[in-house]
Amino acid sequence: MAMQEREPDLSAVKERQQEMWATGNFARIGNNHVIASELLCEAADLRAGQRVLDVATGSGNTAIAAARRGCEVVGMDYVPGWIEYARKRAGMEHMEVAFEVGDAEDLPYPDASFDVVLSTFGVMFAPNQEKAASELLRVCRPGGRIGLANWMPDGFTGAMFQAIAKHVPPPPGVKSPVIWGVEDRLPELFGEEIFSLDTTRRESCFATFRRATSSPASAHISAR
Ligand SMILES: C[S@@+](CC[C@H](N)C(=O)[O-])C[C@H]1O[C@@H](n2cnc3c(N)ncnc32)[C@H](O)[C@@H]1O
Repeated sequence: MAMQEREPDLSAVKERQQEMWATGNFARIGNNHVIASELLCEAADLRAGQRVLDVATGSGNTAIAAARRGCEVVGMDYVPGWIEYARKRAGMEHMEVAFEVGDAEDLPYPDASFDVVLSTFGVMFAPNQEKAASELLRVCRPGGRIGLANWMPDGFTGAMFQAIAKHVPPPPGVKSPVIWGVEDRLPELFGEEIFSLDTTRRESCFATFRRATSSPASAHISAR
């Protein structure tokens, strides 16, 4: 008799991930993302006064980079400790950013409330990828822009995820986060709701692991 594949329990996966992101000092790793955050803001061509949402902001890198450009910024993450950290950090730099707790798969904002929606190595970790992509589209106004920095499968981070999966395999049916870094996956995720899609491959060096390099892809998506 053929075995029936069980649907993965994505809520349970998310709960475990949330605990993982809340453990330890992620900000030390996040320090390596500052350059990617700045480059993403440049690629998204942010303008002063635009309403910008940074999804899965962590220690606030991309939200603060957008605030430097004079945007009205909201940074959200599902780990309350990181929201508190980002708030203090923005305060130290005299940046006005609203930091709020929320889930990328169920964004606590009305439809079309942002001109630009960004995420740096963040939304790609949501286990329900289709739901997360539809939430990015929902909160972005028609004619607005979505900018993503995603790790790719063939870089250092992709290799690291593969090594981890060998020892701690993900539950069957859970898609790898790095497929957000595969160009063909993006039209599948965003469907016909988008007007144009550009991707740029860039190398990113983890300063803390000097010799290793990683390759994020950034995607710039214009919402219809
Ligand atoms: C690799 S960190 C990146 C943080 C930040 N964007 C940066 O570039 O430094 C991933 C972040 O995604 C957040 N995250 C993952 N899944 C999320 C979800 N479903 N909703 C909200 N935040 C999420 C984690 O809490 C963590 O802060």
